[in-house]
Amino acid sequence: MTIIDLNESYHQSYFMCMEEWSDEIREAGNHKENWYHHMKDKGLRVKLAIENNEAVGMIQYLPIEHAFAEGQDLYFILCIWVHGYKGKGVGNRQKRGIGKALLAAAEEDARALGAKGITAWGVMLPFFMRASWFRKHGYVKADRQDMILLMWKPFTDQAMAPKWIKEQKRPQNEPGKVMVTSFLNGWCPAMNLVHERAKRACADMGEQVIFREIFTRDRAAYREWGISDAVYVDDKSLRSGPPMSYKKIHKHIDKKVKKLK
Ligand SMILES: CC(C)(COP(=O)(O)OP(=O)(O)OC[C@H]1O[C@@H](n2cnc3c(N)ncnc32)[C@H](O)[C@@H]1OP(=O)(O)O)[C@@H](O)C(=O)NCCC(=O)NCCS
Repeated sequence: MTIIDLNESYHQSYFMCMEEWSDEIREAGNHKENWYHHMKDKGLRVKLAIENNEAVGMIQYLPIEHAFAEGQDLYFILCIWVHGYKGKGVGNRQKRGIGKALLAAAEEDARALGAKGITAWGVMLPFFMRASWFRKHGYVKADRQDMILLMWKPFTDQAMAPKWIKEQKRPQNEPGKVMVTSFLNGWCPAMNLVHERAKRACADMGEQVIFREIFTRDRAAYREWGISDAVYVDDKSLRSGPPMSYKKIHKHIDKKVKKLK
């Protein structure tokens, strides 16, 4: 296994999070590709783990001022992912030291770039990027929002701990309408998928449903709301976690439409 910097021959695999086998990834549209082209000159770094010329793992991180937390001279790990689906694509490559090697490579790179530390988010529950995995690798809690910890590893005594950027305001109800507001950054296909499904569900409904998109890779828009990726139906966010199906999103909005009558 070797760790390399992303290059053009792996772009498609990276844009699909190495899940070229998945129909869901295609449903997520080209938001990640657009986001990548926007962010690549803003300090975004991507490393891939390669085995037999295939990408099997990735880590992506960027200067914290382009991420979802406040901090100085820190990098922020948006995502680390080692392909873990048995029998699909490159199969399950987890628990063989690839994640550890990717994290070490990102840390070494951030140090070489002059950062004072590196930050990551970790879920306190046993799914997605677990906080406990980062803790094992020397990360400590800097801040918390619901079940998501902001964790960090300072490289020097001068490093200052990061903080989550908090929600500033949320969408309001509109009399006689159901307002669906989708906040989209673009970096994560799972979020992009929910955005596309919500958009499609709204298009399939009547005039009482209004769909609004807020593109939060525009920093001013993100700062205004303090929300990076979420779909709100009126003033309530659809639950996070695994991407909601089209059917469930449609049902949820439809229930609200029926309540208007
Ligand atoms: C977190 C993650 C990156 C870790 O990757 P990984 O390659 O499995 O990580 P490691 O190699 O460090 O392995 C983890 C475990 O395998 C064990 N392991 C490592 N090398 C091993 C080997 N050669 N043989 C057997 N076990 C090994 C480690 O000891 C570790 O065990 P522990 O967790 O009980 O301590 C991976 O599990 C993952 O992608 N999870 C999903 C994250 C996600 O959802 N990302 C998207 C968020 S948007």
